[in-house]
Amino acid sequence: MAEWQKSDWRNKPRIQMPEYTNKDELNAVEAQLASYPPLVFAGEARTLKKKLGAASRGEAFLLQGGDCAESFAQFSADQIRDTFKVMLQMAMVLTYGAKVPVVKVGRMAGQFAKPRSAPTETVNGIELPSYRGDIINELDFTPAARIPDPKKMLQAYTQAAATLNLLRAFSTGGYADVHQVHSWTLGFTESEKASEYRDMANRISDTLDFMKAAGIDSAQAEALRTVSFYTSHESLLLEYEQALTRLDSTSGKWLAGSGHMLWIGDRTRQPDGAHVEFARGVLNPIGLKCGPTTTAEDLKVLMEKLNPENEAGRLTLIARFGAGSVGEHLPRLIKAVQEEGANVLWTCDPMHGNTIKSATGYKTRPFESVLREVREFFAVHKAEGTIPGGVHFEMTGQDVTECTGGVRAVTEEDLSDRYHTACDPRLNASQSLELAFLVAEELSARRQEAQAEAV
Ligand code: PEP
Ligand code: CO
Repeated sequence: MAEWQKSDWRNKPRIQMPEYTNKDELNAVEAQLASYPPLVFAGEARTLKKKLGAASRGEAFLLQGGDCAESFAQFSADQIRDTFKVMLQMAMVLTYGAKVPVVKVGRMAGQFAKPRSAPTETVNGIELPSYRGDIINELDFTPAARIPDPKKMLQAYTQAAATLNLLRAFSTGGYADVHQVHSWTLGFTESEKASEYRDMANRISDTLDFMKAAGIDSAQAEALRTVSFYTSHESLLLEYEQALTRLDSTSGKWLAGSGHMLWIGDRTRQPDGAHVEFARGVLNPIGLKCGPTTTAEDLKVLMEKLNPENEAGRLTLIARFGAGSVGEHLPRLIKAVQEEGANVLWTCDPMHGNTIKSATGYKTRPFESVLREVREFFAVHKAEGTIPGGVHFEMTGQDVTECTGGVRAVTEEDLSDRYHTACDPRLNASQSLELAFLVAEELSARRQEAQAEAV
């Protein structure tokens, strides 16, 4: 087979991508992006792959989360900080429950392009092209706003670079130091889960005080002062992805320089399509959304294409079937994986199969459905003897009202209060923390059963 080229996807059928009308402008933007530095380094992608390999063996756990779609208008330091904070809190809850390292990956610093269920949208009898994410066109419902504009790729690159810069600063500059475990709480998350978090934080602080008193505060404790935080997004806008793809001189392989981990969406996973063709050639860890329409045959072909060397940590299968449907679909796909002897990391996205339209007209997700899908995911893995290795959430640190339910119950009538998402409804900080406690309970139950069996 001829060697893979980063432009090969152009010869394959593409869907869910914009038709740019001004080709000269598109070419100029691509050339400019190709001359810019990549956002991530190949060594980081390789390290993340090793950690995801550990998660696939149950030796770590993946927490992936962030906006459905990052927005140019809502870009701010506070917004980034608050999402990062909630993820740190969730990771702490999970580490405490699961007693394994939590691999933290944001849907951040590049999560701009969106696949849509319909190419157009009709409001009051007027039909316009759908909004496809800030990297492509604009949310405003006017003909001009919906025209795809290649220059938006440059703004997305700049925003991604600034976001990643701040995330790196938070991760290593002292903010994520475990001694700060109390300070990551957000005022408005007050609930029984917030006090459960405070209790856990108190126990962690006690342990740290004990370690210090016992003289274990120096070298090893350095590891407690920083975290590793990675970025990810859906690899959808392939002109942008190709322009940021670079040859890694150490390995001679191609790196998608736009983020550490890329995933292929449920709508663009055709084995012979452009998106699979692009992803198969880059060295980054790759995620693959698996939905109710994913067939065992397609999955087998995709695993072979995306991970021909069966490398651990290379391929994450992100199950998103919807509450009530996991039992029908997950076992048949687990069987396909087992028949191939494939190394994969299984994670659960309990968001995308649970979107409904509320009586008040808003797109929402009932929190009970989200919880139920997570429970079903763990139950199936328990029955199959396989490993539930991570979770994938759409969430924000902001106090939004986009998903209904949770301990600080958001009702359908509340949705209009603070509905800020540019695309799908996200869990707010309080719901995210509650979910982390549920996942931690599931993981801790698994660990206790495994220990009981080992005795
Ligand atoms: C997403 O993760 O935002 C998304 C569109 O998911 P899916 O491809 O699973 O529908
Ligand atoms: Co989404």
